[in-house]
Amino acid sequence: AAAIAVPAMAFAYPTQPITIVVPFSAGGPTDTVTRLVAQSMSAELGQNIVVENVGGAGGTLGAARVAQARNDGYTLLLHHIGMSTAPSLYPNLPFDPTTDFEYVGLVTEVPMVIAARPSLEHETLADVIAWVQAEGEGVLYANAGMGAASHLCGLLFMEAIGTQMTVIPYQGTGPAITDLMGGQVDLLCDQTTNTTNQIRDGSIKAYAVTVPDRLDSLPDLPTPAEAGLPDFSVSIWHGLYAPSGTSPEIVARLTEALQIALADENVIARFADLGTAPSPASDATPEALQAKVVSEIALWGPVIEAAGEFAN
Ligand code: MLT
Repeated sequence: AAAIAVPAMAFAYPTQPITIVVPFSAGGPTDTVTRLVAQSMSAELGQNIVVENVGGAGGTLGAARVAQARNDGYTLLLHHIGMSTAPSLYPNLPFDPTTDFEYVGLVTEVPMVIAARPSLEHETLADVIAWVQAEGEGVLYANAGMGAASHLCGLLFMEAIGTQMTVIPYQGTGPAITDLMGGQVDLLCDQTTNTTNQIRDGSIKAYAVTVPDRLDSLPDLPTPAEAGLPDFSVSIWHGLYAPSGTSPEIVARLTEALQIALADENVIARFADLGTAPSPASDATPEALQAKVVSEIALWGPVIEAAGEFAN
């Protein structure tokens, strides 16, 4: 008998706009990365992508929102290293980064800079460190809440110099940098995606990058070793997630669209101008992101534990 042609399952996705939740305020580094990638993914997927900023609690409120969202492929999360520091910082975290998400892929890894209000008169990082060690809690350090990248960098900095500053938390480092430029706060360790232009135009001061090699985008900034903090290193990886139970076909289509976006010349150029680069296709995979989330939980747990009160 002739084989009966069975119509292939009509896999139709996406058939409506997609929301990507950014767990920090608009205008910050996570928002910047997301809007660049979303623009390109939207073109590939043929649907609008709406970026929704859900700030609070160092990114954990936004992440929880997506962990509990419908797993239909229309609510995604773009989050960073905070996904893997939160378990050590929040005893009652309302989600589990290792079970409550499907992993689409790694997106980018962004260096940070140690920055200050433009009126700070110190010339070198060594001078700033001596000033902080003298002033202690008289120095106002801005971050985006416990679990933010700016929180982690501040924790590492305060532990490295053995001094507690007064921490001023924001819903994201978009608003934090506005206050830094205005002089309402003294220091902020933030990602180059949110500071490169402000450093170039002098609206904030920067003292060092937080990665072992100087950046082509900010060539005058010393490395931590050159600036007197030899063991200081932190950079902020970002991943794209869907709620647990999202179908493998949808995850695969999202991974494909992410990889196409990360190969987009415009995305590459805009990232380069902001001191970063897209993750390679080999990292923009579910397996690579899942491995990163798990390994980073193991990496940062003891560091946060050892930091004691500097982690608050
Ligand atoms: C952070 O500090 O985690 C981010 O800079 C927050 C943000 O993207 O606004």
